[in-house]
Amino acid sequence: MDIIGIGYMGFESPNLEAWREYAPQVLGLGQGNAPLGDPDSLYLRSDDRRHRITFHPGPVDRIAYIGWEARGRQAFDAAVARFRDAGVVLEVGDAARCEIRGVRELVSFRCPAGYRHELFYAQKWTPRSFVPGRPHGGFVTDERGVGHIVLITPDYGPELEAFFIDLMGFHWYGAGKGRTGFFRAKLNDKTSHDIAFGHAPGMKGVQHIGLFVKSLCDLGETYDIVRKRELPMQMTLGQHSQDPHVSFYHFSPSGFAVECIHELEPWHHDGFELNPEQLSIWGHERVGPILGPSVMPLEQYPNN
Ligand SMILES: [Fe+2]
Repeated sequence: MDIIGIGYMGFESPNLEAWREYAPQVLGLGQGNAPLGDPDSLYLRSDDRRHRITFHPGPVDRIAYIGWEARGRQAFDAAVARFRDAGVVLEVGDAARCEIRGVRELVSFRCPAGYRHELFYAQKWTPRSFVPGRPHGGFVTDERGVGHIVLITPDYGPELEAFFIDLMGFHWYGAGKGRTGFFRAKLNDKTSHDIAFGHAPGMKGVQHIGLFVKSLCDLGETYDIVRKRELPMQMTLGQHSQDPHVSFYHFSPSGFAVECIHELEPWHHDGFELNPEQLSIWGHERVGPILGPSVMPLEQYPNN
């Protein structure tokens, strides 16, 4: 499937008010306009797209949907046909849903881990319209999408890898610890993963999301703001072995970590599967829990 990456992400949260202040003032995300059909949600921007990250009111902090961007209509049609051939249950987004998402067409479906995904094409955008929430040089998006997400799953079986690799055409990237899978969309040749799954028996939820900022200065300023506010940190500033990126992880109001990332140099592609001796070259000292409160026992995780 000709998928670029994550075009948008939607979360549910009981902490929308905290996000309204935190997203612009800490992360530098821009404020979007909530569409008429969804006035109570928080729509956030990281570039000229109408929105990239949305928070809907909900009882627990969790990912509601991950919006995968097909390159265009033909890619979307081909992907839908492939899903149907494979017997995947698809829900076709009606006009109202497409208007809320700001896309031409979408379908939604679930992966074997039970998370909801959407596939879409043609999200609305306005050139030169992005205004960050505070002085900020902007986010790296475009042909790689909004960023990446790492999810915890209580079951990690071969069907999960088959779904993303064999059906959706993702590349496998095996650089995690323990029982993990890193996957990147077929058209993503910029970073090692768009989505990753970590196995934790009996647990489910968002472990972290990763957002790419354009300059090292933006990363450093965000780091200073996080430290000044004494927000809980997960990992200090450091550089991963598998990506030539510098990043740090802190906890958001939803209890999952946000990895703020700056690319030091272009990614090296994956001519062969790396097997790093250690996950980081320097830094990334773990100073907080690896699983925040957004990763919860299955009994607490809403069943829909
Ligand atoms: Fe990450």
